[in-house]
Amino acid sequence: MLAELDNLKDDFDAGLAGADSAEALDRLRVEYLGRKGKIGEVMKRLPTLSADERPAVGKRANALKREMEQALKTRGETLALAPAAKRTSAVDLTLPGVPLRLGHRHPITRTRDEMIGIFQRLGFDVAYGPEVEDRWHNFTALNIPDDHPAADPFNNFYITPDLLLRTQTSPVQIRVMEKQKPPVRCVVPGRVYRPETVDASHSFMFHQLEGLMVDRDVTFRHLKVVLHLFVQEFFSPDARMRLRPHFFPFTEPSAELDVSCFICGGKGCATCGRKGWLEVCGCGMVDPNVLEGVGIDPEEYTGFAFGFGIDRPAMLKYGIHDIRLLFENDVRFLAQF
Ligand code: DAH
Repeated sequence: MLAELDNLKDDFDAGLAGADSAEALDRLRVEYLGRKGKIGEVMKRLPTLSADERPAVGKRANALKREMEQALKTRGETLALAPAAKRTSAVDLTLPGVPLRLGHRHPITRTRDEMIGIFQRLGFDVAYGPEVEDRWHNFTALNIPDDHPAADPFNNFYITPDLLLRTQTSPVQIRVMEKQKPPVRCVVPGRVYRPETVDASHSFMFHQLEGLMVDRDVTFRHLKVVLHLFVQEFFSPDARMRLRPHFFPFTEPSAELDVSCFICGGKGCATCGRKGWLEVCGCGMVDPNVLEGVGIDPEEYTGFAFGFGIDRPAMLKYGIHDIRLLFENDVRFLAQF
């Protein structure tokens, strides 16, 4: 009789494993635990057993009944959850997620945007121009004669005799003034190209930020104030600056802007070449010839212009010693900033 109960249990287990719906579970319950169920049959036969067999069989039958009830209950709960599990099986929300690598901006982009932001807060617009430029905008309109060494094929990437990769962002000054009459106040970020031999501090492509302001009564003082505010905000509130006389064909007078080295505070170090000063920008008052060339009366309007490099300040800010690192796109380098 005990062996019979064991067989019953095996059959029940097999039935349970195959039961994949609430209905199947109900059928199983009736078959084994119902009033005329298989366990009931065993119970009914108890009185026919001998007195020493009866207690063990009765006990086993009751235990089996409880086990079956529990098993049916557990299986029922599992089945109740199953449809939901099936629906979401393509996406297992309980798995740990795949971390997304967050990108960030290139040091050049960050420096450029920081510089632009300062000038925007001073009321400058942002203008753009083409990287493939014609001779007129890159040279002639900027008061650079055709036979000037700057226009020589050795110093430029010519595409046709009249088209070249721009060597400076200054041609965008011309493009802006051709379209917009004064007042003009804009900065122009962009890439420029020169056939330089590539080394730690030179690249055939680099970045500039041009500035232009043209209006009535614009003087050199305005230029100096704008540069001063920029230097204080971009480099340091204690940075000192000086304007050294220089020559550019498109400005008169012209100057170069030096900023006290923010690494050594002006004492002289390897970064500033022991000079204590960093050369950061060319600038000056827009040459009357340039204004006339775009149809702006230099008797009525005056203006100033400046041109910063972006790469060198970026390298100084981020402690980068080789310009090539900026353009090699090695993520191991770029991920550091
Ligand atoms: N375009 C000059 C260069 O690439 C930099 C420059 C100097 C820009 C003086 C200016 C300026 O606007 O006024 O070397």
